[in-house]
Amino acid sequence: MLGAWSRKDPTVPLAATGSGFPSAARPKPLLDCATSVFGHPHRAPSRSRATGPRTPGPTLDESDPTLKAVTYHGTHDVRVDNVPDPVIEHPTDAIIKVTSSGICGSDLHLYEVLGPYMDEGDILGHEPMGIVEEVGAEVSHIAPGDRVVIPFNVSCGHCFMCDQGLMSQCETTQVREYGTGAAFLGYTKLYGQVPGGQAEFLRVPQAQFGPIKVPEGPSDDRFVYLSDVLPTAWQAVEYADIPDRGSLLVLGLGPIGEMSCRIAQQRGVEQVIAIDLVPERLERARAHGVEVINLEAHDDIPGLVRAQTDGRGPDAVIDAVGMEAHGAPIGKLAQRMAGFLPDAVAQKVIETVGFDRLSALHLAIELVRRGGTISLSGVYGGAASPMPLIQMFDKQVNMRMGQANVKRWIDDLMPLVTDDKDPLGVESFATHHVPIEEAPKMYEVFQKKQDNAFKVVIKP
Ligand SMILES: NC(=O)c1ccc[n+]([C@@H]2O[C@H](COP(=O)([O-])OP(=O)(O)OC[C@H]3O[C@@H](n4cnc5c(N)ncnc54)[C@H](O)[C@@H]3O)[C@@H](O)[C@H]2O)c1
Ligand SMILES: [Zn+2]
Ligand SMILES: [Zn+2]
Repeated sequence: MLGAWSRKDPTVPLAATGSGFPSAARPKPLLDCATSVFGHPHRAPSRSRATGPRTPGPTLDESDPTLKAVTYHGTHDVRVDNVPDPVIEHPTDAIIKVTSSGICGSDLHLYEVLGPYMDEGDILGHEPMGIVEEVGAEVSHIAPGDRVVIPFNVSCGHCFMCDQGLMSQCETTQVREYGTGAAFLGYTKLYGQVPGGQAEFLRVPQAQFGPIKVPEGPSDDRFVYLSDVLPTAWQAVEYADIPDRGSLLVLGLGPIGEMSCRIAQQRGVEQVIAIDLVPERLERARAHGVEVINLEAHDDIPGLVRAQTDGRGPDAVIDAVGMEAHGAPIGKLAQRMAGFLPDAVAQKVIETVGFDRLSALHLAIELVRRGGTISLSGVYGGAASPMPLIQMFDKQVNMRMGQANVKRWIDDLMPLVTDDKDPLGVESFATHHVPIEEAPKMYEVFQKKQDNAFKVVIKP
């Protein structure tokens, strides 16, 4: 089995950097709801309303009324708006000047189907890095001028869940109004509607814990994926629980799927197979030694995969596709219909009927060998999406899933991203670096998989 997290004992405090916890961490009483942690969501107050102690930084131009941010305006309608500059609202906040910010497959779910949980003007983006501008009085591990990556999870580092490395379930930032886990940057009401990082400046809540300090020197592309892609892919491989000499099949060769393949190879998995339907993505993975299968070029995918895996199927399958899988007409219809309904009604639909496009997940269940493991990193959202329970039970399938616990995996990843040899190939991972003005166009290009778009990094 692949190495497990080295820090199993949650009572042992971790170091204050990397995936560590502040040494003075003490569990605090839970807060009532996310808004008490984040202040009022998505409408940042003007700088003159800043309250509480703070350490001012050197460079923010307080008179600049034209800070830009990528904002949500409806299905397929993302714009760049001028927004008020964010300010320190809590002593645990920090402000960063964003230098790189990824567009993620999760953002595409907002662009396409999760509109009922968004408001016009919400600032998008959860994969930022940049330079610290100022910090609140309770933020001590970073200072103005530091180079930092911001995890997409907003997590406190000192609650019951964070103590176990389950930062995506942080009890300080759980969104109790919707009964969901930890808040995250730039996402839906289900995740706290926290203003996101596809912007020139970002307020980072829970900054006494979240920001990851990275060294000066190498390009942003070395580090920016520590915010999401790398820990998500690392967790996907970890949760896949691949036995020694075992086989892994990855569904979906977007950034998450492809990085999962690379990490599995890096960790010694000998047989990595992957399925997608975009020729350029298949080619990218093939160039990295992955056995690739084009979903659309074969009638009997399970038969083909079994033939490659001793007749049994792979020991583990990672689903890196999620709720908008190709080849699920009924789910697609439900998602389309929800798009025409008023938000409150659409939310009811999502929460009560089968809403996900399940073809990839169902294929994962079909493909995995009996007694094998499915690791689910693709995001699903329907509360009543039908699952083939008899097949899952009969095959004795194990399943692990969830949003990545970003900081839990940073100690494992940091040596790889700082290695001069760049073993995970992060330097050349992105296909597009664009100024913020081009973000709306790039959402469309990325979603339609045009122009070989694979990973887009905004340079605000
Ligand atoms: N768990 C987490 O913390 C976490 C973090 C980041 C992203 N995600 C999720 O991971 C998923 C992938 O993200 P991404 O950035 O790589 O997105 P992406 O949209 O670029 O990649 C998805 C890939 O799946 C392929 N695909 C579609 N239908 C398929 C099918 N039926 N079979 C095989 N492949 C199929 C697409 O062609 C595409 O290449 C998304 O659902 C995203 O929300 C989860
Ligand atoms: Zn992401
Ligand atoms: Zn916590």
